[in-house]
Amino acid sequence: MAYPQSFIEELKMRSSLETVIGKYVELRRAGSNLVGCCPFHSERTPSFTVFPEKNFYCFGCGAGGDVITFIMRMENLDYPHAVQYLADAAGIDVPREEGFIPQKKKEILSRERNFEMNKIAARHFHSNLMSPEGAEGLQYLLDRGLSPAIIRRFGLGFAKNSFDDLYKKLTQCGFSVEEMKEAFLCGISSRGTPFDMFRNRVMFPIIDTAGNVIAFGGRVMDDSKPKYLNSSDTPVFKKRSNLFALNLAKNSCLGAEGATGDRAKSGEMILCEGYMDVIALHQAGFSGAVATLGTAVTPDQARVISRYAKTLYVSYDSDEAGRRADEKAIKYMNEVGVEVKILKVTGAKDPDEFIKKYGAESFRKLMTGASGQIDYRLSEIKAKYNMEIPEEKLSMVNEACALIAGIYSEMTREVYIMRLSDMTGISRDTIASDIKRRTRKNTYVQKQQVAKSGEETLRHYGDRINPDAIKSVRGAETEEHILGLLLLYPEYMDSLNGALYEDDFITDFNRMVFSCMKKLHSEGGFDISSLNEHFTPEQMGRIHSMYRRRRALTVNDIGILSQLCKTLKQEKEKLSAPRGEDMTLEELAAYIASKSKGKQ
Ligand code: GTP
Ligand code: MN
Repeated sequence: MAYPQSFIEELKMRSSLETVIGKYVELRRAGSNLVGCCPFHSERTPSFTVFPEKNFYCFGCGAGGDVITFIMRMENLDYPHAVQYLADAAGIDVPREEGFIPQKKKEILSRERNFEMNKIAARHFHSNLMSPEGAEGLQYLLDRGLSPAIIRRFGLGFAKNSFDDLYKKLTQCGFSVEEMKEAFLCGISSRGTPFDMFRNRVMFPIIDTAGNVIAFGGRVMDDSKPKYLNSSDTPVFKKRSNLFALNLAKNSCLGAEGATGDRAKSGEMILCEGYMDVIALHQAGFSGAVATLGTAVTPDQARVISRYAKTLYVSYDSDEAGRRADEKAIKYMNEVGVEVKILKVTGAKDPDEFIKKYGAESFRKLMTGASGQIDYRLSEIKAKYNMEIPEEKLSMVNEACALIAGIYSEMTREVYIMRLSDMTGISRDTIASDIKRRTRKNTYVQKQQVAKSGEETLRHYGDRINPDAIKSVRGAETEEHILGLLLLYPEYMDSLNGALYEDDFITDFNRMVFSCMKKLHSEGGFDISSLNEHFTPEQMGRIHSMYRRRRALTVNDIGILSQLCKTLKQEKEKLSAPRGEDMTLEELAAYIASKSKGKQ
């Protein structure tokens, strides 16, 4: 295997969880443990717990693992690099087996030098823009409706149509070509000549919340391609976890600086696709706008947003890609507990155009009238069916009822029952009783069971670590208990003979965990930390929570294990057996038939 176990133990012993995590999280004692606010999700009351010399776990978001997992997540590193990182900090050497461990990328450019270089570049671009040679760039921005003040606020700039304008400047300042290349500011041609990456473009600096310039985007001023050139990942920039204009939007959320009205103070952000959308929104007074730069929001960005926003208005372009991105945003923002409202900029291709055409007030109205995610999903469902055709209408109602039945709060359910009734003309009572029957059907045993399964469903709803879980929540839960038990007592693997195979698993993720454990077991045994290098930190968080949930229980004997294996097999069978699922449809058909009879 990659690293000798003794080395990993040594490394962990020398990298005290308390010290390592203490650099990122303010920890305070709580009995023999330490607690603090979780760095992986947004929270006010600490549920992030460090169990000294063991591991950490967040009772809020389920993040968990050992010191290596922590560094992987916090520093965005893969396993070998996290090991290297900790080894460097602890001052010990990483043993190398031949040809296996990737060497840490040789550090040409430190973060500090990268920041410094970016700052110089940003200033240089900005002064270009204000100089006669930048006239074309400035004119372009003014033509697009930007005011001189907003150009200054965003520190926009201009890269001259030259191969060495920035190169010369940075050379004067003592930077090497290799450093410039690492920072994505220069490239080196096949003949070995350095050249500026950004040429003849208006420049948009991306600035982090501490005020450091971390990357650039550059736009051509005509229709040539590529329209935008963006920095790729550098020592200080990871596209998937940064947002354009977060430095400004953050202040508006916290109400610290130039907050415009009460809206800006209440932790609201607007998410759009492009630089120009964000700048147009800020200029129109919406200073909570940020952009993901052309891609759907990532889980990392969602976590960042959740530090500042309670509500996120998603205002993507009004095309198909934008719609798909809406779905992702709903999912990831849900996971970090931020409410999502979807804005539809109808009549324009993006928010920038919308504001130009209809004005800021119209955009404000869009925000006020924005529907929550249930409304949004309801209208998505409705759009799929032709409501003129009875069968299709039934399918639509059926799907909508399933959606509403999944809402936790009774009052909210009530609201949407009314909404659905208005949409379809089917009486509230009919819809309500269908939904009631569904909630009963889900949970035919007892009240407790209801709560439990609701909780389980909730836990697996939009589960992105194990997306299959929603296929069979009970099945996935059972699998997790089995895996938790095996993690607790790896020796149970020996007594499994024949009772459990990979094929018995319903969900892919849990099957993968099982098969990895099996392999490690056959190679001489495992414990939870030996799974580290096979799974991502998020996945490790899930694995730790399986372990922890099981450990919290008092009875963990082998009898339980065989019971669980049996349950899993039953759940699997249930999935392949036909279910009375379309009962609902028939019953609804009967309702509707009787209703329309009554009318005639
Ligand atoms: P304009 O209004 O046309 O200036 O652009 P926009 O800001 O509305 O951007 P658009 O909706 O076209 O694209 C959204 C974002 O995707 C941009 O801000 C860029 O970050 C990114 N993007 C667009 N085109 C390209 C491209 O050709 N290459 C790369 N790397 N990114 C792009
Ligand atoms: Mn645009």
